[in-house]
Order: sequence, then structure tokens, then C-alpha cells
Amino acid sequence: MNSPPSAPTPPLADQLETTGWAIVPNFLDPAECRRLAAECLATWDDGGFRRAGVGRGEQRAIREDIRRDHVCWLDEAAATPAQQRYLARLDELRLEINRRLFLGLFAFEGHFAIYPPGGFYKAHLDRHQGTLDRVVTAILYLNEDWHGDDGGQLRLWTTPGATDGPFEQVEPRLGTLVTFLAGDHWHEVLPARRERMSITGWFRVRGPG
Ligand code: OGA
Ligand code: MN
Repeated sequence: MNSPPSAPTPPLADQLETTGWAIVPNFLDPAECRRLAAECLATWDDGGFRRAGVGRGEQRAIREDIRRDHVCWLDEAAATPAQQRYLARLDELRLEINRRLFLGLFAFEGHFAIYPPGGFYKAHLDRHQGTLDRVVTAILYLNEDWHGDDGGQLRLWTTPGATDGPFEQVEPRLGTLVTFLAGDHWHEVLPARRERMSITGWFRVRGPG
């Protein structure tokens, strides 16, 4: 962006409306993020994660050449207090986005994600082919003391539909939230050199999915 460094960050929904994406450092306070990170690791230790796949239904496959993360879906009915608070925060955001962008978002589905060292996710869009269900992506990073040489940055191409041209590169730092229009913005996770944690999810519209 060309705005001077002192310019106030526009409210998230404003930026989403203008550019189709928004990056918000410190979206969630550190203590709350640390609770979520601890729950993510405890779930991992309990064997609660599975390898993430690509595609849906009969097309679903484990493709280690495309992505190497492991996921554990959040279950609203079984959510811990910290997870419930985060989901409530996202619900406020959902309503704010609906007020600004008239997207008719009605629900959020999300999962913890862990990229083990060496993990990556090649360039992709988040909307499944032939569906309209995932409209806005929201990713909250849960990594304390992340440094540039830890890799694992999110590369987000800012021109809709493009995998060349300008991009933002986001360090997956504790508390940073990234949102973007799921069907418009190609993105990729660069190889991480240490374990990388997040809560990734999508605001959906009602429909056949
Ligand atoms: C995804 C994804 C990006 C990230 O899970 O679809 O693109 O930065 N994640 O974790
Ligand atoms: Mn994605």
C-alpha cells in the first residue's frame, strides 16, 4: 500500500471492501493467543490432527507435493472457553463484513493447522471448484517469536485472479489476522523451518456447498 506509515489502519471491513484483503497485527491479545496455541499443541499431542487433503468428496486426496499441513476442525459444541471467545470475535467480524459488503455470510467453519518443519502449501485459491460456499478466508497465527528466517510466510497476491504481480508477504506472528476474498486471491505458504500454528477458517454463505 502507498499510505504513509503514520496513517491509521482502516477498520478491517473497510479494507476488505476496498482491496479484497486485510492484514491486522494484534487482532487478538497475546494471552488469548497463547491459550489457543497451548490447546492446539495439546490436541496435537492427543493425536487429534490429521493430514490435510486437497479436493472434496471423491476427489479428496493427500498430496504431499501440494500441501504438508495437518488439521483439526473446531467443533463449536465442544469448544473450550478460549475457542468460544475467538469464535464470538469472528462472529462480530462476520456481522461487520455483512454490514459493509452485503455478502450474506452466515457461518464460520475453521480448523487448527500445524505445519511441521518443512511444511508448505503451494499457490491455491480457497474456494472449491464449482462451489460458492467459502467466501471470506480468516487466518489467525499462533506463533510466538517468529523470525523472518523461520520461513513459513503467507504470500498473498493482491490482484484478484493473479499469481504474478504484487503480493503481500505476512509473517505468521502471534495475534496477526489475515482475511481475504477466498475465490479471488491466490496465496501460498512458503516452507516453514519450525513448527507453524494457526486457526484457519472460512465465512460461508448458505447454499448447496
Ligand atoms: C489454507 C491456507 C494459509 C496460512 O489453509 O488454505 O492457505 O497462512 N493457509 O496458513
Ligand atoms: Mn488457502
